[in-house]
Amino acid sequence: MTDTKIIDGKKIAADIELSLKEKIDYLKNNGIVPCIYVILIGDNPASVIYVRNKENAAKRCGILSEKIILPVDVSEDELLNKINELNDNPLVHGILVQLPVPPHIDENKIMETICVNKDVDGFHPFNEGKIFTGNSSFYPCTPFGIIKMLDYSNIELTGKNVIIVGQSIIVGKPLSIMLMNRYATVSVLNIYTGDIRRWTKMADILISATGKAHLIDDSFVKDGAVIIDVGITKLNGKICGDVNFDSVIEKVSKITPVPGGVGPVTVSVLMENTVNAAFKFL
Ligand code: GUN
Repeated sequence: MTDTKIIDGKKIAADIELSLKEKIDYLKNNGIVPCIYVILIGDNPASVIYVRNKENAAKRCGILSEKIILPVDVSEDELLNKINELNDNPLVHGILVQLPVPPHIDENKIMETICVNKDVDGFHPFNEGKIFTGNSSFYPCTPFGIIKMLDYSNIELTGKNVIIVGQSIIVGKPLSIMLMNRYATVSVLNIYTGDIRRWTKMADILISATGKAHLIDDSFVKDGAVIIDVGITKLNGKICGDVNFDSVIEKVSKITPVPGGVGPVTVSVLMENTVNAAFKFL
């Protein structure tokens, strides 16, 4: 019973990666090996793991992936120069700066510097703006992955009441627009919302992206709700999400597990964005 409720991120990611194979073969037959550069600043343990997951996925797909590790005190100018170098290199199709960056670096400036056509994260303001019209070349990987997981699971979005907990630029904000484009009714909660339970209990689809381990238990959830858990944190040495899985499982109709849910799909969407970026060089 529980099994049929689980939205299997690993399986969906594997299917997305498989669907890229033909495209990658086509590119290679035309002399293009899709290539992504990932820039990691410092040694934030979570960022190190995320970057490793991206490298492993690239390897599986036959995408060239290069990593640039910069010291945590790297100057903003040095970083911008590195990005401009990659912008000018025709063999590089995708550029990603792993977030968060240290506080002395202006994140917005970094996002604006990455070439619009190599912005596989979808964070450049031009690409972000195009989310509004629904015709962006690069949608941010986590929100796009979540939409794919919902579609894959045949979960209707039109007319559904969706509550997103967390209004980050990486997940909550872009996802809210993408869901509005699909005619969902969307509310986005933030740390000043107060009693979030008042809202979450109304959700047909509840998406939590706060990074607060086990914030959501069954008292936050409506019977039959779909839950998408974007959080990844460690609690007592164990990786867990925003949602207390055991507490809510009886109540929900579908749920993404942590690990093995949104994470792998996010990475596979990054691979898809990289392949699409490489097509711009044909
Ligand atoms: N840090 C957490 N999620 C992401 C992401 O999707 N892209 C980048 N660049 N950094 C992140």
